[in-house]
Amino acid sequence: MIARSQLASPEAVRAEPDIYLPSGATVTDVKRLTPWEKYFKFKMDDERDLHYMPGQFMKVSLPGVGECPISITSSPTRNSGDRLEMVVRAVGSMTNALHALRPGDRVGLRGPFGTSFPVTGKMRHKDLLIICGGLGHVPLKSVIEYVLDERHHYGQITILIGNRSPNNRLFIEQILEWKQRDDITCMETVDVADPNWGGNVGPITTLLPRVRLFSPDTVCIICGPPVMYKYVLRGLESLKLDKSNVYMSLERRMRCGVGKCGHCQINNVYGCQQGPVFTYKDILEMGEAI
Ligand SMILES: Cc1cc2nc3c(=O)[nH]c(=O)nc-3n(C[C@H](O)[C@H](O)[C@H](O)COP(=O)(O)OP(=O)(O)OC[C@H]3O[C@@H](n4cnc5c(N)ncnc54)[C@H](O)[C@@H]3O)c2cc1C
Ligand code: FES
Repeated sequence: MIARSQLASPEAVRAEPDIYLPSGATVTDVKRLTPWEKYFKFKMDDERDLHYMPGQFMKVSLPGVGECPISITSSPTRNSGDRLEMVVRAVGSMTNALHALRPGDRVGLRGPFGTSFPVTGKMRHKDLLIICGGLGHVPLKSVIEYVLDERHHYGQITILIGNRSPNNRLFIEQILEWKQRDDITCMETVDVADPNWGGNVGPITTLLPRVRLFSPDTVCIICGPPVMYKYVLRGLESLKLDKSNVYMSLERRMRCGVGKCGHCQINNVYGCQQGPVFTYKDILEMGEAI
């Protein structure tokens, strides 16, 4: 017979929730951000705090439809189980079904999964260069909110945001706020302008010559479409950053996110198990051509 003292206390069980077990959650807010993307806020049934860090993702499920990985866009500094934010681009059956959700509807959420950006590690006390391309802005909003909430732990912060067109811009209110702050630098560009756009035009690499770095020890965080990495890394060469200080998320190579499909495999590394966040140095060692 198991002695009572050998059983985990209810507190201990609550302290370590099983990330593979879905929790029910209710949609509490939905907003259209662009013609393709919607913002969602969820309240989890389980009152536990979700112990996640910027860069991690959840698996969102809908009974009878399926399940898909979606990055967390809210910062853990502003979040508990009742304020989990995500942004979904409608591309197929599951993401279109998510777009049909209204406040009060129910989903399953499990996670968090994946590695995170080192906001409490290597990024601390360093200057930061944060480069967001398109949907890559979604996980990086979590990073940006985190470092702004803990501003005193970081040096100079430069944020670059690139989108295909003004119509693709996510989080417009937050970008305006960031541009108005005098303790950070935020620059934005679009590949193709419309008549109402008065800002920079050109790919995100056109912003790089304007970046003034004060420390060679700057940590750079990048998330965007695969094609962006190649050109951004080339553009960063003149800044002479240490390759182990450049972090990237390789989530675009992934499908299931939990080690089942093999889609993310690069030689002997499963991106979803050891990533999605890797340093540039790690990626070169994996034999990966960016
Ligand atoms: C770690 C991770 C984080 C993600 N975060 C987000 C997020 O924050 N917001 C968001 O909208 N999407 C995100 N995605 C992508 C999202 O999971 C896929 O778009 C979704 O699974 C597609 O499912 P579907 O049934 O709607 O479309 P499907 O019918 O499965 O696919 C429709 C189209 O989308 C393409 N597609 C499928 N999976 C991906 C993928 N992983 N990346 C790019 N294209 C894909 C397919 O090739 C196909 O062309 C993330 C993916 C991963 C692995
Ligand atoms: S994404 Fe499916 S195995 Fe890694």
